[in-house]
Amino acid sequence: MNIYFQKTFQRGFGTYPLKGNELRGAIDAAIDVGYRAFDTAQMYANEADTGEALAECGVPRHELCITTKVHPDNYTEEKFVSSVEASLEALKIDCVDILLLHWPPANGEIAPSLRLLRSAFAKGLATSIGVSNYTAAMMREARSIVDVPLVTNQVEFHPLLNQEKLLAAAAETGIPISSYASIARGEIFKHRLFADIGETYGKSAAQVALRWILQKGVPLNTMSTKPENIRANFEIMDFTLSSIDMSRIDATTATGYRIIKPGQLPWVPEWD
Ligand SMILES: NC(=O)c1ccc[n+]([C@@H]2O[C@H](COP(=O)([O-])OP(=O)(O)OC[C@H]3O[C@@H](n4cnc5c(N)ncnc54)[C@H](OP(=O)(O)O)[C@@H]3O)[C@@H](O)[C@H]2O)c1
Repeated sequence: MNIYFQKTFQRGFGTYPLKGNELRGAIDAAIDVGYRAFDTAQMYANEADTGEALAECGVPRHELCITTKVHPDNYTEEKFVSSVEASLEALKIDCVDILLLHWPPANGEIAPSLRLLRSAFAKGLATSIGVSNYTAAMMREARSIVDVPLVTNQVEFHPLLNQEKLLAAAAETGIPISSYASIARGEIFKHRLFADIGETYGKSAAQVALRWILQKGVPLNTMSTKPENIRANFEIMDFTLSSIDMSRIDATTATGYRIIKPGQLPWVPEWD
């Protein structure tokens, strides 16, 4: 089974932009609540702090699912493998569970970096591989370049953004979508709908938004520094949104709100 679809790993804990004691406190709280999937990246400059917290958290390594992502500056023959080896050393592990390409390259030519990712996989540096911030067209192209499953395309995914094109590409290519910015960094709280729906279920606005994502078939990444939010974001398996409530939330995707705007980073592709 795709590692992302194991029940516990469907609710991942993100580490950006945390570092040091704040990150340590958040990871410890997340472990206590039951999170077992953790998301970091070379770009976050917190792999060593993440590795230390996870090495000392008391949960056996084989129960954890650790994701890291290769920085686009390392998409060269000279740097790719050594950068992944440096990530593994920082994370204090021999092999990462999921290794992603963090962004498509700035020139949009995805084949060379996918081949480098494939060779890191062949060397045994990662149990599974995937991509992040790919467009639907890139997902289709990737499928024809890489001969092993890509376990995810991690993208901005929340109820204020219509990502139906990516969901269609996921169904077509077999590359599942997973989410980041799952509550749109708090923007969802400006819409009363989520709190209103939550009242029916005895759940908060954030829990409703996260549950909507899961019911779309999309595994989550959330991040919080507050133990009560860390817990709330995990406690979303004990209710089911009705099809009517799912449709009401579907309608808010027309808001078209994006955290990552075109041109914000050199690698941002032309979004679908
Ligand atoms: N692949 C990529 O390019 C990419 C890009 C961005 C992020 N990511 C990953 O995805 C993870 C999550 O995304 P994100 O952190 O950008 O966005 P997010 O989860 O939508 O938002 C995080 C913010 O929401 C607040 N929050 C969290 N849960 C809450 C709750 N239940 N109630 C009220 N406020 C809540 C947090 O503040 P408090 O601390 O006050 O709770 C935090 O400021 C990141 O940590 C990172 O690992 C990946």
